[in-house]
Amino acid sequence: MYGPPGTGKTLFAKKLAVHSGMDYAIMTGGDVAPMGRDGVTAMHKVFDWANTSRRGLLLFVDEADAFLRKRATEKISEDLRATLNAFLYRTGEQSNKFMLVLASNQPEQFDWAINDRIDEIVNFALPGLEERERLVRLYFDKYVLEPATGGRQRLKLAQFDYGKKCSEIATRTEGMSGREISKLGVAWQAAAYSSEDGVLTEAMIDARVDDAIKQHHQKMDWLRAEEEAAKSLTPPPAGVGAFGGKMGFTLPLKETPHAQEVIAPIFEINAQPESAEGKPADPVIQDCADAAKAEAKITDKGLTEPESESKPGKQEKTGSSAPKDGTPV
Ligand SMILES: Nc1ncnc2c1ncn2[C@@H]1O[C@H](COP(=O)(O)OP(=O)(O)O)[C@@H](O)[C@H]1O
Ligand SMILES: [Mg+2]
Repeated sequence: MYGPPGTGKTLFAKKLAVHSGMDYAIMTGGDVAPMGRDGVTAMHKVFDWANTSRRGLLLFVDEADAFLRKRATEKISEDLRATLNAFLYRTGEQSNKFMLVLASNQPEQFDWAINDRIDEIVNFALPGLEERERLVRLYFDKYVLEPATGGRQRLKLAQFDYGKKCSEIATRTEGMSGREISKLGVAWQAAAYSSEDGVLTEAMIDARVDDAIKQHHQKMDWLRAEEEAAKSLTPPPAGVGAFGGKMGFTLPLKETPHAQEVIAPIFEINAQPESAEGKPADPVIQDCADAAKAEAKITDKGLTEPESESKPGKQEKTGSSAPKDGTPV
């Protein structure tokens, strides 16, 4: 999965892990480099563990570029190179026991051997107008309407055409990510609770949108400046031709599955389950909580197991006896 920050890659991968029926482990690319020489051992532990799982293991590497960088560059340390080699060694063969999901904002940083292992690439693009409208409504419901209709500290909401307002906001938030829109929802709620009479008015909503748009433009300016600076510092390497230096990800956009197709089924899943109080279970919070509960993390202390019942049986005992040679099971 690749695409700009805040487009739902982590959210989606956690849902995929929960709904896949497989055991799963989640690691963040940035956790690996600080492990130093323990990285290799940790890597073998993860794959030994995968081999003990009866249901198979889905390994999700978030912010994968931090770990799976090109070995050829000077920037990666010997330890990280060795860890990456161990990872490549253990993922070299097809296995029905193992599914690897990588998320990255910068997949062009991947080692070529990683690109070669990728079967499917999914682009998480910034939301278009229609998607933004769904996002604005989703987060307006969650942070404004729901607290206005129930809850302990009831939020007071002025009378106006909420549907029309959401459409208008969707139009104005062009270029914003799902995360930026969700934060807008939080900002509306905060504005209501911190106002003197506790009433959220149309003008307050508009003011938060104005702020968010300003901040978004500021971030875009920084990004542009950074890109310009990077361009002037690094001349294109010799031999770079039509690929523009980007390895692997040269599919035309229209051939890449669009994020919405991938995300749509989640909304369907979320639309169905009802929580005990008869309200739809919160999609984001609930699934992420599930995911977090079962999350197995690699830390500098090694692999900690997920807390869920889904942890592979007898992992502690059989883990070290699994083949270390990467033999696919
Ligand atoms: N497509 C989406 N649908 C619903 N919420 C989204 C979507 N994309 C982002 N968000 C919101 O933004 C938050 C951060 O998204 P995240 O998955 O961490 O983005 P990424 O990993 O692509 O940077 C999510 O927890 C969610 O609240
Ligand atoms: Mg992420």
